[in-house]
Amino acid sequence: MNVLVTACSGDGAGTSSGTQKLVMGTSADYPPYEYRDTASGNNEIIGFDVDIAKYITKQLNYTLEISDMDFNGLLPALQAKRVDFVMAGMTPTEERKKSVDFTDIYFEAKNTIVSLKGSNLTKVENLAGKQVGVQLGSIQEGDMKKAAETVKGINLKPLNKIGDLIQEIKSKRIDAAIIEDTVAKGYVAANPELEFNVIPSEGPSGSAIAFPKGSPLVKPFNDVLAQMKEKGEIETLVKKWFDKEA
Ligand code: ARG
Repeated sequence: MNVLVTACSGDGAGTSSGTQKLVMGTSADYPPYEYRDTASGNNEIIGFDVDIAKYITKQLNYTLEISDMDFNGLLPALQAKRVDFVMAGMTPTEERKKSVDFTDIYFEAKNTIVSLKGSNLTKVENLAGKQVGVQLGSIQEGDMKKAAETVKGINLKPLNKIGDLIQEIKSKRIDAAIIEDTVAKGYVAANPELEFNVIPSEGPSGSAIAFPKGSPLVKPFNDVLAQMKEKGEIETLVKKWFDKEA
């Protein structure tokens, strides 16, 4: 997609004539970052990332369209320019930076082991000989591949959707899944038979916005993110989306 970056101060005042659209790629299986609003019945994609994307695109005078796909398809979609940017609770790893550009990190996260209550899977060493689910293409998949080099017998089961990982644990086809804390918290709250235990993450953690390499949008997005941090907007959204599950 060809995008024209306007040097707009973002006061939102002027006319909206000629407003361009930006397409955001996401994987809406990740409450509270992005998920389908099934409760309200309209099935719209909502969440922390969506609110940030709306804010930034509005400031920069773009309209926003969201394209939902498997997490594993997001980077290819960016590289093929089928989407203009990706917000999906995505962590800016060195590996990914080889193919895409990232903004600064806007929110931190930690890995957890999600399992049936009382399974006693509190640290990575406990996963020896276990079936362990991860989201395909996630850093959790990479982290566990690495862990499996030292912890013997971790059997990795990569799946496309976080919801599928949860179902597999509940039906005992896997023993555990590695899921980020804020997301694990929500699923565990909704499924009382589950528990989660925080484990140390390998390498970087947290979320940043991804763009095709060399995208002129990185700088304006980063500027608005910085503004949002300064004005307490991010903090407000963190309260709105993350604190309500506490
Ligand atoms: N932060 C992790 C990563 O970058 C997991 C993100 C998963 N996001 C999602 N929308 N399912 O790999």
